[in-house]
Amino acid sequence: MNRTRRLRKKESIRRLVRENSLSVNDFVYPLFIEEGSGIESEIESMPGIKRFSLDRISSELNEVVELNIPSILLFGIPADKDEEGTETWNDEGIIQQAIKFIKKNYPSLYIITDVCFCEYTSHGHCGIIHNHDVDNDSTLTNIQKQVISHAKAGADMVAPSGMMDGTIEAVRSVLDNSGFEDLPIMAYSVKFSSAFYGPFRDAADSAPAFGDRKTYQMDPANREEAMLEAKYDNNEGADILMVKPALSYLDIVRDLKNEFNKPIACYNVSGEYAMVKAAAQKGWIDGEKVMMESLTSMKRAGADIIITYFAKEAAKILNK
Ligand code: PBG
Repeated sequence: MNRTRRLRKKESIRRLVRENSLSVNDFVYPLFIEEGSGIESEIESMPGIKRFSLDRISSELNEVVELNIPSILLFGIPADKDEEGTETWNDEGIIQQAIKFIKKNYPSLYIITDVCFCEYTSHGHCGIIHNHDVDNDSTLTNIQKQVISHAKAGADMVAPSGMMDGTIEAVRSVLDNSGFEDLPIMAYSVKFSSAFYGPFRDAADSAPAFGDRKTYQMDPANREEAMLEAKYDNNEGADILMVKPALSYLDIVRDLKNEFNKPIACYNVSGEYAMVKAAAQKGWIDGEKVMMESLTSMKRAGADIIITYFAKEAAKILNK
């Protein structure tokens, strides 16, 4: 008889035949940095995650370094917003200050910056509004200004997340023409228009004031189009291709892994985090086990890099 159970008899043999395992090397930890001072505020819908001002962020960064998490993804929350999000390319803006502070005090941390406008625009959309919609090509010009400002401040990698067409080409060319030819791009290639971003929009104060993001983020029903998005970004010179959210889109992660010879990242987003935390708080699931199981499923689907709010918690378990 075929007996697959033979190799499941003991933990030691299960370890030997285990196909995928998580490592702290897989993790990128997102951080919300708010302009101002004395800020360390809990995000209600994301237990354990806070918004920090720069003067209060050291204990968090010490912990990330001690846990050996290699990288952080920075989101800025500026004091002032305007129509175009001009603060995004202010060389003394909150993200630029954060990059310089972290580079100086935590040189081992690899700094990735989220490149977008929704936290910086008064209307909360990811670019310049013309006729009640985000205008693609004029937004590209502002993305270029933002990217150069991040690069000059010392970012190690940029991650454009706005889903404008031609972003990667625009970013690659401006970096190459400005002496940053070695700065890599992680493309939010396949970013779906998802209700799983709900808690993030509270955390980053970035909910759109009118309408939704369906004219730029992808329809969750589409798989062929996901491949097209990734192909364009691949051809335009993205170094890493990302799928977002993660859990409801693991088929897309696997599609990309099979098709491209580049590292694949997935973003385990705020709503995915919040659901686990909420159910665990109610005692309905074992939060730690569900966390490790879902992170492992991302690895199994083909993710080389996992961006996750669970990074610190999972690292504590993995480092044991
Ligand atoms: C846009 C951006 C979003 C997230 C990361 N970058 C949200 C959006 O499109 O509204 C979501 C992250 C998360 O939910 O954890 N700059």
